[in-house]
Amino acid sequence: MFDFSKNPGHLPLLSRYVAEACCIHLGEEKRYLFEARLGTIISESGAMDIPEFIAKAKADATGRLRDKIIDSMTTHETYWFRDTRPWEALEKSILPEFGNLLRRGEKHRIRILSAACSSGQEPYSIALLLHKLKADGLLEGVNLSAFEITAFDISPGTLFLASAGRYSQLEISRGLPDFWKNSYFDSTPSNTWTLKAPVRSMVSFKRRNLQDDFTSLGVFDLVLCRNVAIYFEDHFKHDLFNRLAQVIFKDGLLMLGGTESLLSHQNLFQAEQIVGSFFYRKKI
Ligand SMILES: C[S@@+](CC[C@H](N)C(=O)[O-])C[C@H]1O[C@@H](n2cnc3c(N)ncnc32)[C@H](O)[C@@H]1O
Repeated sequence: MFDFSKNPGHLPLLSRYVAEACCIHLGEEKRYLFEARLGTIISESGAMDIPEFIAKAKADATGRLRDKIIDSMTTHETYWFRDTRPWEALEKSILPEFGNLLRRGEKHRIRILSAACSSGQEPYSIALLLHKLKADGLLEGVNLSAFEITAFDISPGTLFLASAGRYSQLEISRGLPDFWKNSYFDSTPSNTWTLKAPVRSMVSFKRRNLQDDFTSLGVFDLVLCRNVAIYFEDHFKHDLFNRLAQVIFKDGLLMLGGTESLLSHQNLFQAEQIVGSFFYRKKI
């Protein structure tokens, strides 16, 4: 394993490289994280020290080493219907209301974005809710193809898992009651669970960095940006929500993580309680 204690002065170089790659700022006090997550990768790269490792990552035209660094330094914790309550708001109010807009012809498409989607449980939870609402007759007269769900993440490893829609026994058990598992997944002899094609095909996955300009993705009725801004510094968070606001329709909604709130940007968003959970409605 690579020995970080040999040249402690090199750690800030690594920290800066990671911050530039994915905006995650980890100070020197997080040395254990660099050790745990990058120690083996540095050793395997054959680099003798951190400057050489960074030079190798920058010189790698395939981008594979950079991707490995990003995959390891990002936290991918996620689960189905994370935080439960806001999903009740989606099921009972927000998604049926989108259905009403489609039925009345006020909209022809409803566009939903899951920004930093990890291995897909977040956007697929929306697709599952839409299928259930349809099965329960609450989206009568509405074609599910009118809902377009886009999801992105910076991490190629998690995007690969997300696109496959295949989950281990542990992943499937986190937050997903048996009803969903039995109705919308196929099990395999190796005890993995694959999301059925009609649900899976509702979501299209892309690779994007939250540092990117989002306008090429189009404009959305609902944007989820959950449990990722906590890793960013204030100035980047501020800029991120400004850029997300640019791709949300007037009166569209922003959904944050259960423990997150948007105290700034009051010129752009109005906090609104829907079925007991806070969402942020785009004002202008
Ligand atoms: C903790 S997970 C949250 C997943 C999901 N939104 C949820 O709430 O369950 C954070 C995700 O953000 C992604 N991420 C971190 N930095 C990113 C960046 N700069 N651009 C895009 N995605 C990023 C990570 O790869 C990871 O999958």
